[in-house]
This record gives sequence, C-alpha cells and structure tokens, in this order.
Amino acid sequence: MGLLFVQGTSKPETETIHPAVAPEMPANVKAVVEKKCYGCHNAESKNEKGKAKLDWDAFEATKKSKQLATMGKINETLAKGEMPPAKFLENRPEGKLSAEELATLMDWSAGKKKSKE
Ligand code: HEC
Repeated sequence: MGLLFVQGTSKPETETIHPAVAPEMPANVKAVVEKKCYGCHNAESKNEKGKAKLDWDAFEATKKSKQLATMGKINETLAKGEMPPAKFLENRPEGKLSAEELATLMDWSAGKKKSKE
C-alpha cells in the first residue's frame, strides 16, 4: 500500500509482500520456552506485564527484523538472570532454567545456530 518508503536501500522491499517470518524456532529452543517461559508470555496469559513485554505467539508470527530485536532483549534479560522472575522462582524452584537450558536460549537469542540436540 506504499505506506513505507525506505530510501537508499539497495535491496528491494520484499518484506511487505512476503513477510519474512523467521525460520522456525529450533525444536530444542521451543521446548525450553514452552516449559519455562511460555506460561507467562503468551497471548492468553493472565500475567499482563509479562504478556505486554513478550508474547511468544506474536513473536513467532512477526517479521524477522522484529524477532531479532526481541531476541536481543531476551539475551540481555537472560544474561542478567532476570527471567524467570526471582519472585516466581521462590514458590516454583522447578521453574528455574538449568544451565543447559539457559545455554540453549542464550545461544539461540545471540543468533548462534546450534542444530544439535
Ligand atoms: C512467572 C511468569 C514469568 C515467567 C515464567 C517468565 N517471565 Fe519473562 N517476564 C515476566 C514479567 C512479569 C515481565 C515484565 C517484567 C517487568 O516489566 O518488570 C517479563 C519480562 C520479560 C522480558 C522483557 C524484559 C524487558 O526488560 O523488556 C523478556 C525478554 C522476558 N520476560 C523473557 C522471558 C524468558 C526468556 C523466559 C523463560 C526463560 C521468561 N521470560 C519467563 C514474567 C515471566
């Protein structure tokens, strides 16, 4: 519809025609997210704050450029050890990420491909 004119780009603006949905999240990443993150971060979540900050349903459907920005945020948040929230973990220690799960999410959100496992 010509709402967006980007000047000076060398590549044709294909995203508006065919949204570049990022490649499927790797299965191992998805498994961790579903187990440890999804409950608070999804479109139906009652956790309004969590949902507002991150909605995995929307994430999967959004454009790659947006996903990359979100992944950066996720990486930052995890590096600081802020997720899952400490308060939540007080009552649900099993919700904590194992070292391996954390590494999986860190590698993925940093854009590192890890196809094994
Ligand atoms: C118990 C519910 C809960 C779980 C589980 C949870 N989150 Fe969150 N998350 C929240 C809430 C609430 C916020 C908003 C925090 C705030 O604004 O202070 C949030 C915010 C975030 C943000 C945005 C931070 C920012 O500063 O913008 C990211 C990224 C995030 N979570 C990632 C994750 C990941 C990755 C996991 C799984 C490892 C996870 N969350 C698990 C509740 C949760």
